[in-house]
Amino acid sequence: MSKRINFARGVPAEEAFPRAQLELCVQALASSREVVAYQYGPAVGPLPLREWLADYHGVDIANVMAADGSVALFDILCRIWLKPGETVLIEEPCYDRVVNLLRRYGANVIAIPMEADGPALEPLNAAARREPVFMYTVPDFQNPTGTTWSAAKRQHLVDLARSHDFRIVEDSPYRLLRYNGTQEPSIINIGRDVTVQLSSFSKVIAPGLRAAYLIAPPDTISAAAEVAESTYVTPGNFALSVTGEWLRRGFLGDQVAALRRLYAPRLEAMLSALDEFMAGHRYVRPEGGVFVGVTLAHPIDAQRLRKEASNAGLDVADGDGFFISKPSATFLRLPFSSMDEVTVRRGVEILSAIIGNELAKH
Ligand SMILES: Cc1ncc(COP(=O)(O)O)c(C=O)c1O
Repeated sequence: MSKRINFARGVPAEEAFPRAQLELCVQALASSREVVAYQYGPAVGPLPLREWLADYHGVDIANVMAADGSVALFDILCRIWLKPGETVLIEEPCYDRVVNLLRRYGANVIAIPMEADGPALEPLNAAARREPVFMYTVPDFQNPTGTTWSAAKRQHLVDLARSHDFRIVEDSPYRLLRYNGTQEPSIINIGRDVTVQLSSFSKVIAPGLRAAYLIAPPDTISAAAEVAESTYVTPGNFALSVTGEWLRRGFLGDQVAALRRLYAPRLEAMLSALDEFMAGHRYVRPEGGVFVGVTLAHPIDAQRLRKEASNAGLDVADGDGFFISKPSATFLRLPFSSMDEVTVRRGVEILSAIIGNELAKH
């Protein structure tokens, strides 16, 4: 029997984990006479990792906090900034775990529709006047659409945040995974006074390390550290120390280059399969990341689609989770990172056949 095809989750390729390098770092820490990595550590994460991050981002160490997973850091930001009923802006579609968290905090969420180069400006401008506390965005190779914001839209958001006095949460786990084209400026580098940045090594090293971090003003870091201390005391000091050691040894550049070599042809395969089998539907052409979002030309019974796909050996994500306003009967997120080119193409072929059959019934 052929292996199931996983279009449900955008997980990293197993063959890309830098296992030998991590083994070296684990051994170095485990056999070191220093026992720091074994102990409780600071609530903001181990010092060597924070030092490396501060240097890499050109900020002070007081601007850096490391934690177990960037969703945990987003949760802390919600806890220190948000009261129930207050307004938050998101992209639509949006990373589903963030949608869930905002619901849990009772936020009044305004979803801004996404275009090929970032948010639609008219709804964004209107929403900015509704006294948002912050806007959450993934401006590089967004989860779930693969969209990258243009420099002009990044600048526009910073201008809006300054004039309407709200913050921006820039979530950048995919930023290093650019396979072609040129990098847009980070929002935090355009407007450091209004932006905090989350990032994660999940997609670049390995999600099992849970190595993530926040770049923010010192008062935000202190408030976040207080929540961390009273919630989980300290993040996983050993795994974060291994991450710090891996970064300190200079493995990042080669790892990113290896990921680009591995993923670029997979993205190519995804786009050419979409061009071949699903040309009548709408999708952006990402220059990096791990997803391509597809908006179908006609609504479809998503539950039946998932069931039919599953029967054909293809797992597909529930597109509804990425939407706040209404369920989407047309959106599909297609990840390509963990599959070789032949599997990516086969997955799109199966999917398009099922969609064709379903649409033919109407
Ligand atoms: C936009 C975005 N933010 C955060 C994360 C989660 O990162 P972490 O593994 O650090 O929690 C993901 C993972 O899929 C993501 O897509």
